[in-house]
Amino acid sequence: MTQIEQRFQPNFLLHGADYNYEQWLDYPDILEEDFRLMREANCNVMSVGIFSWAMLEPAEGQYDFEWLDQLMDTLHENGIQAILATPSGAKPAWMSHAYPEIRRVDAQGRREPHFQRHNHCPTSPVYRQKVRQINTHLAKRYRAHPAVLMWHVSNEYNGGGCHCDLCYAAFRAWLRNRYGTLDTLNHAWWTTFWSHRYTDWSQIEPVDGSIQGLMLDWQRFTSDQMLDFFLAEIEPLRAHTPDVPLTTNFMRPDVGLDYWRFAQHIDVVSWDSYPRWHSQPEEWPVAVETAFYHNLHRSYKNQPFLLMESTPSHTNWQGISRPKKPGMHLLSSMQAVAHGADGVQYFQWRQSRGGTEKFHGAVIGHVASRNARVFQDVKSVGAHLAQLSPATSVSQAEVALLYDFQNEWALTLAQLPRNEEKQYQERCIAHYRPFWQMAVPIDLIACSTSNLMPYKLIIAPMLYMLRQDIAARLDTFVRRGGTVVLTYLSGLVDESDLCFIGASSLRPMLGLWVEQTDVLFDHNTQTLELEADNDLGMSGSYPITHFADIVHTDTAIPVARYGHDYYAGQAAVTINRYGAGQCFYVAGRADTRFLHDFYTALSNNLQLARAVSAPLPLGVTAQQRRHGDQTALYLMNFQPSSQTVELDGGIYEDALTGERLRHSVDLEPLGVRIVWQRLQ
Ligand code: GAL
Repeated sequence: MTQIEQRFQPNFLLHGADYNYEQWLDYPDILEEDFRLMREANCNVMSVGIFSWAMLEPAEGQYDFEWLDQLMDTLHENGIQAILATPSGAKPAWMSHAYPEIRRVDAQGRREPHFQRHNHCPTSPVYRQKVRQINTHLAKRYRAHPAVLMWHVSNEYNGGGCHCDLCYAAFRAWLRNRYGTLDTLNHAWWTTFWSHRYTDWSQIEPVDGSIQGLMLDWQRFTSDQMLDFFLAEIEPLRAHTPDVPLTTNFMRPDVGLDYWRFAQHIDVVSWDSYPRWHSQPEEWPVAVETAFYHNLHRSYKNQPFLLMESTPSHTNWQGISRPKKPGMHLLSSMQAVAHGADGVQYFQWRQSRGGTEKFHGAVIGHVASRNARVFQDVKSVGAHLAQLSPATSVSQAEVALLYDFQNEWALTLAQLPRNEEKQYQERCIAHYRPFWQMAVPIDLIACSTSNLMPYKLIIAPMLYMLRQDIAARLDTFVRRGGTVVLTYLSGLVDESDLCFIGASSLRPMLGLWVEQTDVLFDHNTQTLELEADNDLGMSGSYPITHFADIVHTDTAIPVARYGHDYYAGQAAVTINRYGAGQCFYVAGRADTRFLHDFYTALSNNLQLARAVSAPLPLGVTAQQRRHGDQTALYLMNFQPSSQTVELDGGIYEDALTGERLRHSVDLEPLGVRIVWQRLQ
């Protein structure tokens, strides 16, 4: 941990919201009420100034910081800290009109109008200069302000890409740097195909989905270019406020940015989480998905993160978003903390009167304020967080799941025999789900993670692209005693998206080779049939859908065989003992029931530690976290009915009520209990 990362070790958990004070300057009564209610809800932090550029610089070079001074002072007087934003997420209209180059150009070459937000050109020198100026003013003005806790750099960067001349020139420079010569590039992109060979760099335009190397590099470039913009954006912040940590709010991993790379340059990871609660017949699959994303954000830096945004009620940009039912707000907020969040924040403190988000949920609504259930729910979260301080580090898991953005991009671009439902992200979540159900902690790791040795088990679903030396690192990991699980559609292409010729570098570790991948229509039947007396003690038959690799074993031993079609009897799941370890290959897309049974057997074999050793009821999970020198057990029930969790031996104490507990804990419908584990 760097010094500045260490500085962000608040001895309290953060609780707050995006606060759009500048929208209410003409409503002094409302502003007064805001601070009263913030105190009542135990809020200790507010994210401010996120979309305030037009208020801070109403005309070019004319600044107005008075309202922000007032806000910062009032926050401080009320004992609330500020996560102070830089305003680059939305540009003022005067700027878009004076400098059209700052607006993005789409793939058809049309420059966008001034509209929406999060849509500036990441290359434009003018925009970079304007951002530098406003950020310098902010940094100099507030560097010593006692309310400043952290920088909130911009808002939700994305890798959408801009097709202007400046971006194309930057892309070509990026390509020259990567490939050196056009010959190398032509080979890497296999451009002899369809006569696509380039003879001049200026011919390269990232609009051709038939050259997948090109489009993959374009995605990499747009991610890198946004990171480059971010690095330029934070220069004045680092120069004038070297001691102030900074964050930028990430999103779910499908916005075209390689967050593993981004995370190296920020001090604190934060993210905006908007699960679709109440959208499915059962709640807990949504909880699994959300837990996966929380773990991902904890894993980017292997440190606590912040839940920067969540709705206290509903959103208004999803097709249908129901207000959170009683219990859900506390449960979902504590879920984030259980998975490593050191704070819970909302979008938004107060509902806007106008604009596109006026019907988005907020802590304070248009009509009801403190008497509303939403406010009471928020208060309850505040009370819990206050009891749980101080927060502390995250602990090392024994299981890791490899999640690689570039693999996902390449897989999405690839034209396969089956293009429907490739579902990289969904399948990673499906492999994660059994661990959530068993309460076995799990980290996510990057393709570049150099030290795999702390883990007992590494799972890498659909590792289509082998980047860097990942194959060699997994090989070493297994030979030294680790267990690896790989699946169908693995090890097909190199970093340039060129297919491997001949034996895959995974072959010795897998102990098999893949001849072909069968793909299935929905009406096709395929199964995997467990071998008698297999190492995992599993039996029976499970369905296979979508993808089925047809494999030939060298040293691998079949654990299950296919049940249908011309490859019936060939291996469908294998184990290869390799060095001191073992490697499993799940050759077909098996369902969640199989993954559950498979990982349950494997975690018993590997004796993986669980937060609670008794089996948990379906839809209930447990996470452990250290708080100071105490260990807390977070017990979460995502079922609409009461559930009971059997505790391991020892004494437990409810963190909120102090009630002593032994043997078992009852959880209300959508209930959460946090208990301190006391030694006997
Ligand atoms: C986030 C964004 C916020 C707000 C929120 C609404 O993605 O950062 O500014 O728009 O969504 O849910």
